[in-house]
Amino acid sequence: MSLILDREYLKGFVANEDIRNLQARVETAHNDLNHKTGKGNDFLGWTDLPSKIQDGFIVELEQLGKDVRQNSDCVISIGIGGSYLGIRATLEFLRGKDGFPIFYIGHNMSVDYHYRIFEQLKNKRVSVVVISKSGTTTEPALGFRLVKQFLKEKYSEAELKKRIICVTDEKKGALRKIADKNGYRSFVIPDDVGGRFSVLTPVGLVPLAIAGVDICSLVKGARDGQKEYSLMDLDKNICYQYAAARYALYKKGKVIEVTSSFYDNMQYLTEWWKQLYGESEAKGGEGIFPASLIMSTDLHSMGQLMQDGMRNVFETFLDVEQLSHCLAIPQEQEDLDGFNIVAGKDLDYVNKQAYKATAAAHFEGGVPNMTIRMEKCDEYHLGKLYYFYERAVGISGYLLGVNPFDQPGVEAYKKKMFALLGKK
Ligand code: PA5
Repeated sequence: MSLILDREYLKGFVANEDIRNLQARVETAHNDLNHKTGKGNDFLGWTDLPSKIQDGFIVELEQLGKDVRQNSDCVISIGIGGSYLGIRATLEFLRGKDGFPIFYIGHNMSVDYHYRIFEQLKNKRVSVVVISKSGTTTEPALGFRLVKQFLKEKYSEAELKKRIICVTDEKKGALRKIADKNGYRSFVIPDDVGGRFSVLTPVGLVPLAIAGVDICSLVKGARDGQKEYSLMDLDKNICYQYAAARYALYKKGKVIEVTSSFYDNMQYLTEWWKQLYGESEAKGGEGIFPASLIMSTDLHSMGQLMQDGMRNVFETFLDVEQLSHCLAIPQEQEDLDGFNIVAGKDLDYVNKQAYKATAAAHFEGGVPNMTIRMEKCDEYHLGKLYYFYERAVGISGYLLGVNPFDQPGVEAYKKKMFALLGKK
């Protein structure tokens, strides 16, 4: 049930010794996380969050989920960044596009996108979860206005109270005021957990419980991750090995990390990872640029760049051992395409050979790579992986010497946009 980190294709780029040489610095970062003595130490609530989630709270959310599913055909989840990506990453990782229908608003301002959703939901029973830690982010605030207007045409004020759920700060921000003033049910985002680390707070757990996800197993995976990946033993802790390896690669000029997967259900997981790593590490001219690829699609476009472009890239594959289904490749009498050699084999057998071939070819082409491998795409392994990634970026951010828990850069566009809009 553990995750595996395969480092075979780092050979010749990062030696075991390079990682061992970082032992003392990793230990300092580890102590700074544990004793809350490093930069950004008021945002370390995520470090022990899984073990602090009460079982009773999970039961309460499961009941909420049942109630909402009973009185609704679908749910709209409103949010952006950390208040959006973890939800979508989890749902698509677990079941692609199937399951209780969830629509996302608040992460873009495209009119056509919103128009299409409102058209689709005209005759549906709709509930809403609006998520914003600050409660003042433009995109979800405007999305919520539009959704409220849409709902007011369908429901009475009393019915709206049953259908709108807010997830926000305990005391601050416009969304807290709106929830309290209108008597909407609300859940609190802890003060000491930043947006991109919040998937296991009500930000993720409320909409995921409504969508019918087994949040109990998700949290169990994260709790086991917390135990396993908080150990200060660089020989055993694969999370710290990953953090140290990527730092060593960065110092050797590999300034871009591409997370690649041969499984399309991981696309939004890589989007979540990009936010976590990009916002945490990229400060003051430092930081690894996080990018992602979904294969085989991207092998036929970005494959050229990976194999043959500027050699400033390393790659981390996300792999899974067992899938939930099999799909045997049909035999054809004429064999015009020559693929009877794999007839009768599971399609995933070929997919796995494509992964092995790609990892080897990219390595030979000068792209060192690692693989994070999990047993299955289930809630438990995802919970574990979330904690793995969060802990690793805490360590690697400290190795880089930055504050991994703030995001001053995202304010710049807001200031200019508010000036253009004439907003104070
Ligand atoms: O990581 C972050 O803090 C940001 O990306 C936020 O998650 C994003 O801006 C949404 O913020 P809020 O939840 O306050 O609306």
